[in-house]
Amino acid sequence: MILILIGYMASGKSTLGRILAKKLNYEFLDLDDYIETNEKSTISDIFKTDGEIYFRKKETHYLRELLESKNNLVLSLGGGTPCYSNNMELILSANHTKSIYLKASIPTLITRLKNEKSKRPLIAHIETDELLAEFIGKHLFERSQFYSLANTTVTTDNKTESHIVEELILQLF
Ligand code: S3P
Repeated sequence: MILILIGYMASGKSTLGRILAKKLNYEFLDLDDYIETNEKSTISDIFKTDGEIYFRKKETHYLRELLESKNNLVLSLGGGTPCYSNNMELILSANHTKSIYLKASIPTLITRLKNEKSKRPLIAHIETDELLAEFIGKHLFERSQFYSLANTTVTTDNKTESHIVEELILQLF
């Protein structure tokens, strides 16, 4: 089984994915980390040097590679992965794969992303908190149509990490 965590930037995909994998005794991978290792570069540098279109091509390539080669894996995607190319179709049609949307509210995402902008090329340049809030609101609205195609959705606001992981396991198995 491959369990795929999707959701907006800072929705907790990697943190919760690691805990979930440990509980299930599965391997854990973060797609951004996998891209960085294979491309021998950081996500920020890939955006800077080769541009977003190149990054999106690589993202689809490595997603496909993992879906075709792995088992007993928890895979956390980048926030944009489900929204580009035919990635969501790929995820939904892959064998033995379940996708979970980790749904966090806009205020929660704004609070977290205010302090975590620098490593994220899509928001690193946004100067004020007001502009960041406006960007996240619009962006999440556009992306929700892809996220909501996931097999299951778990809301994460006001829940502890262990509570969310318990809920995930109950929904998945
Ligand atoms: C992106 C999210 C990032 C990373 C890249 C693009 C996006 O991952 O893949 O900066 O388009 O939302 P996280 O969701 O882990 O921040």
